[in-house]
Amino acid sequence: VPDPRELLDLALEAARKGGALAARGQHGISVLDVKSSPTDVVTEMDRATEEMIRDVLLSARPDDAILGEEGGAAQGRSQVRWVVDPIDGTVNYLYGRAEWAVSVAAEVDGEVVAGVVEVPVLGRTYTAVRGEGAYRNGEPISVADPVDLSMALVATGFGYAAERRRKQAQVLGALLPKIRDIRRGGSAAIDLCTVAEGSVNAYYEQGVHPWDWGAGALIAEEAGARVAGLRGTPPNNAMLVAAPPGLFEPLHDLLVSLEADRDA
Ligand code: IPD
Repeated sequence: VPDPRELLDLALEAARKGGALAARGQHGISVLDVKSSPTDVVTEMDRATEEMIRDVLLSARPDDAILGEEGGAAQGRSQVRWVVDPIDGTVNYLYGRAEWAVSVAAEVDGEVVAGVVEVPVLGRTYTAVRGEGAYRNGEPISVADPVDLSMALVATGFGYAAERRRKQAQVLGALLPKIRDIRRGGSAAIDLCTVAEGSVNAYYEQGVHPWDWGAGALIAEEAGARVAGLRGTPPNNAMLVAAPPGLFEPLHDLLVSLEADRDA
């Protein structure tokens, strides 16, 4: 069985190289220049970054599988699958903002055992190996003490499709009067790390993909959060909730009562 610490080292190398490439590319993009086709320019950087990450991972471990946001799925013959988001927080990236991340997770037999969320512009590297705690730039981090839902600062995000957003706005409308406030950071991977370091109390989002949360979910869990979908399911495409035990339950129950994982 592959050693999760060795997988973490490789994930780190890949995320750092990918992050440096994407950070150099960010300076060349101006929102004004790319108004006609913003997605193309960003997709180009996404692709180049994902390719760089694939190169690093597969030249060291050619038999592994990879699931990437841009490149789709590639089969492997080993027990290991890498789950990669080259640029999570694309809109922040496009606008020259700092809150975007490279996310690299390593699964062994379907379970995430190591993960890195690299935030190049802020110089922050979040890491975790299953069972060994969560770290930011090598220093241990942990979730904030649980608070009452009414005192919770809650991060969330929104999808790109209008229908999905209508539903998300309804859920937000019902939640907002019941909590301290909302943060919309723009990167699901970073949102999960903010739960892990306690700079928000909780995070939930409908419609995020495994490459957005693979690494961040492990980091949040290792920092003491409960991370799951609704009604006893593991994190999934329909809903992801992350919060310390004690806060998780009331937030979860409210989201269930709002049917926050169902489209309108
Ligand atoms: C998006 C970000 C955003 C979240 C969206 C994701 P992308 O990923 O994580 O915070 O709200 O649901 O799609 O498109 O920037 O890789």
